[in-house]
Amino acid sequence: MNKDVVIKCDSVSKIFYSSDKGFDVVKNIDLTVFKNEFLVLFGPGQCGKTTLLNIIAGLDMPTSGKVYVNNKEVIGPGPERGVVYQSISLFPWLTTMGNVEFGIKAAGVGKKERRKRAQYYIDLVGLQGFENTYPIKLSGGMKQRVGIARAYCIEPVVMLMDEPFGALDAQTRYLMQKELEIIWGREKRTVVFVTNNIEEALFLADRIVVLNNCPTSIRQEYVIDMPRPREYTGEKFLYLRKEITGNMDKTL
Ligand SMILES: Nc1ncnc2c1ncn2[C@@H]1O[C@H](COP(=O)(O)OP(=O)(O)O)[C@@H](O)[C@H]1O
Ligand SMILES: [Mg+2]
Repeated sequence: MNKDVVIKCDSVSKIFYSSDKGFDVVKNIDLTVFKNEFLVLFGPGQCGKTTLLNIIAGLDMPTSGKVYVNNKEVIGPGPERGVVYQSISLFPWLTTMGNVEFGIKAAGVGKKERRKRAQYYIDLVGLQGFENTYPIKLSGGMKQRVGIARAYCIEPVVMLMDEPFGALDAQTRYLMQKELEIIWGREKRTVVFVTNNIEEALFLADRIVVLNNCPTSIRQEYVIDMPRPREYTGEKFLYLRKEITGNMDKTL
């Protein structure tokens, strides 16, 4: 694997203050993510995963520590970082095409180039034929495909995905995990993917970073070198599943 560093978190901590009280949520995270790596942040609910991802996205600032993307300090959101959220955040008044091309339209890309690029990513996520459909007519899985195409369309260096399949039913979730792996295989990106689902983590990750409960810190890292596509019921898969879940933070 190419070992170029793309994301570097340097002693990142976050304290939320309410009136005079501080609430530690992220504590001293040192993390390096390599070019085209699929990194999964795996941790229990409410541990601080979204907070950490938002800091990498530049949507929130650390209380101390720094984040670098391609050696540049993150001080706010930027087009080199695409974000896919758990809650489906499409614009309801825009079609699939309108949603996917939104970012590059705002960035001033001309109509012809915009349509071409948006169409490429709509095809990539398997939504050809739904270009003129509004979100209300799309299923949950299809909406997340639009969200993925929209993030890809700005052609970011890194994709930050916050439990993107967390709101889907189990069957659609498996399907989307497989689809995402195919998409990522065709259009490699550096991905930071947040989940609290061990199967999802093992199916997708090159490396799993296990997080402690709040205030979250890194508990353990696992390099996952199983060949792809992986079998959810494969021997090694089940072994790692047991091993990693057994090593989760049991404190509340
Ligand atoms: N803006 C905020 N102000 C105060 N507390 C917050 C804020 N955002 C998150 N928290 C708290 O930080 C903790 C971690 O939240 P979050 O990062 O959303 O966890 P996760 O994504 O792992 O479920 C939670 O206890 C949450 O209530
Ligand atoms: Mg979250």
